[in-house]
Amino acid sequence: MKKKPRFVVTAGPTREHLDPVRFLSNPSTGKMGFAIAAAAAAAGHDTTLVSGPSLLKTPRGVRRIDVISARDMQKAVRSLEGDDAVLVSAAAIADWRPAKRAARKLRKSEIADVIRLVRNPDVLKSAKFPTKVGFAAQTHDVIREAARKCREKRLAFIVANDVTEKGCGFGTDTNRVAIVRRDGSVERLPMSSKAAIARRIVRECEDLCA
Ligand code: CTP
Repeated sequence: MKKKPRFVVTAGPTREHLDPVRFLSNPSTGKMGFAIAAAAAAAGHDTTLVSGPSLLKTPRGVRRIDVISARDMQKAVRSLEGDDAVLVSAAAIADWRPAKRAARKLRKSEIADVIRLVRNPDVLKSAKFPTKVGFAAQTHDVIREAARKCREKRLAFIVANDVTEKGCGFGTDTNRVAIVRRDGSVERLPMSSKAAIARRIVRECEDLCA
């Protein structure tokens, strides 16, 4: 039998600072990623959670690396690469950052001139893991967009959800997701707790690695 895979899970938002007191970010709380890390550790996997700013408690048995920006997250994830690991990217990673971060607080009159945005790296796409899993939080064309991201980022599967649906998305304890696989198959799961969805994702990864 093959060795149990390690799990590397990203969670939470990233913050892209324009000065010491202001940043671009999003409403992610980290609940889904923390639930996946908890499920992986409970299933006996060596588990590392790379988390953007989140108030959640580190799940039992999980090693945690705290990061702030997308580039910090990329550095941490790259340091955990290996052919014995699965990467599950549940983090809501900012695609853009301010071109410059001012060392001192900007005056309000200065801000409009300073905000020029540059692209952040795609952490998931650039990471080297034999099995990669992504998330697609969409507001429309949910399955089609998720399938495109699954192909473009070379994922084993992507977990898609419609964040406009009640009880779904940022900060909720439940979600209704579909698993969209690389082979084009789609499995729609019923509305469930994030803990139950997390256990399902870990099992799906285990099956892929068996
Ligand atoms: N992701 C990433 N690095 C980024 C942006 C996203 O690793 N800079 C990961 C997310 O963690 C998620 C997946 O990619 O698992 C899809 O995220 P999403 O924001 O939906 O993807 P984008 O490539 O930014 O999609 P779009 O084409 O809609 O901009």
